[in-house]
Amino acid sequence: MKLREIQNIDVRGKYILLRDDFNVQIVNGKITDAFRIEQSMPTITALRTAGARIAICAHMGRPRGTRNMEYSLAPVAEYMHIPLVPDCLDKEFMTNMHDGDVVLLENVRFYPGEEANDPAFAQQLASGFDVFVNDAFAVSHRAHASTVGVAEILPSYAGNLLASEIRHLSSVMENPRRPLLSIVAGSKVSTKIGVLKALARLSDKMIIGGALGTTFNYAMGGRVGNSLYEADQKDTALEILAYAKQNNCTVLLPLDKGVAKEFVPNAVRTNKDFSEIADDDIIIDAGIKTTERDVAEIRAAATVIWNGTVGMAEWQPTWSYGSFAIARAIAEQTRAGKLTSIVGGGDTVAALTACGVKDDITYVSTGGGAFLEFIEGRTLPGIAILERE
Ligand code: 3PG
Repeated sequence: MKLREIQNIDVRGKYILLRDDFNVQIVNGKITDAFRIEQSMPTITALRTAGARIAICAHMGRPRGTRNMEYSLAPVAEYMHIPLVPDCLDKEFMTNMHDGDVVLLENVRFYPGEEANDPAFAQQLASGFDVFVNDAFAVSHRAHASTVGVAEILPSYAGNLLASEIRHLSSVMENPRRPLLSIVAGSKVSTKIGVLKALARLSDKMIIGGALGTTFNYAMGGRVGNSLYEADQKDTALEILAYAKQNNCTVLLPLDKGVAKEFVPNAVRTNKDFSEIADDDIIIDAGIKTTERDVAEIRAAATVIWNGTVGMAEWQPTWSYGSFAIARAIAEQTRAGKLTSIVGGGDTVAALTACGVKDDITYVSTGGGAFLEFIEGRTLPGIAILERE
């Protein structure tokens, strides 16, 4: 995929509408993980240094087209030490801008025209700007006014982060070092059917864990007690297992589980094989045998693609055991030069951060849904429109 990139344009004195994904977690007005913002900085710095006048357009959460200040980008502006323009359609700020200045526009999803990709709204958003740069890989699977609409109006380019995401993800999908191991977890089979099939085609082995793994265990007749799983996805799970077999991909399901009687962070943990799981047991993490098996598989792999934690990794230390062991094993092998590792998804990246190993991974994607859709081989509308003619 060849994209139009910003290196090829002269931006001095030009007004740039820069789309970033700053949809980060905020607790009590403070950003808890600034990864997406930090990853966006190289493009901002490059454009500033080249003398552009930059207005960053971004979204926060899903305010559904209403001006709900719970979803304000004010904490992001504060974190970045840049002014916040309270209305993304206000152009007043442009008159006071100098080369190298940067402002952040308030949440573009305060307007219903954003998610509807309304052409009139896109026109208003684009008005006054010379160039559009999309660096928001994480929202490029959405055909919204700020990802697609404005790109149809202004000369449009890919930022460094977006280009880098595509380079790294494409290279592992097109020419991976083998054996390739995928680790897929999370809560719902229904949201991961496409990615599970795509990874079954690509991978030599695939570990399926978390609540997703529980649904597969249930489909295979295993005991799952009072755990989170999708009974109605039994046939889909069986179909995916058959599909993987046809594609010579070995699927590895959970062998045992960390269980409790209550679904709370400080619940007492017991390790149980599936045959021992009682009706009132709740599965909250991978078990010890499963984790040892996962670590051994990581050590035998040359490439790992990981999306989804295998337990409640945020409930540390009791329930982060399985996910942290995976994170550490991937980091250790990558550091030793034995593994190419690609990790994506908010909770998964948060687990890497919590273990302090994020910098050891070959490539950490800023995408959640976009990462999955890209791996699935789908066309991401916000990216397709930046392809070079
Ligand atoms: C994300 O967090 O995955 C992106 O910002 C997209 O957000 P959305 O799922 O609300 O469109």
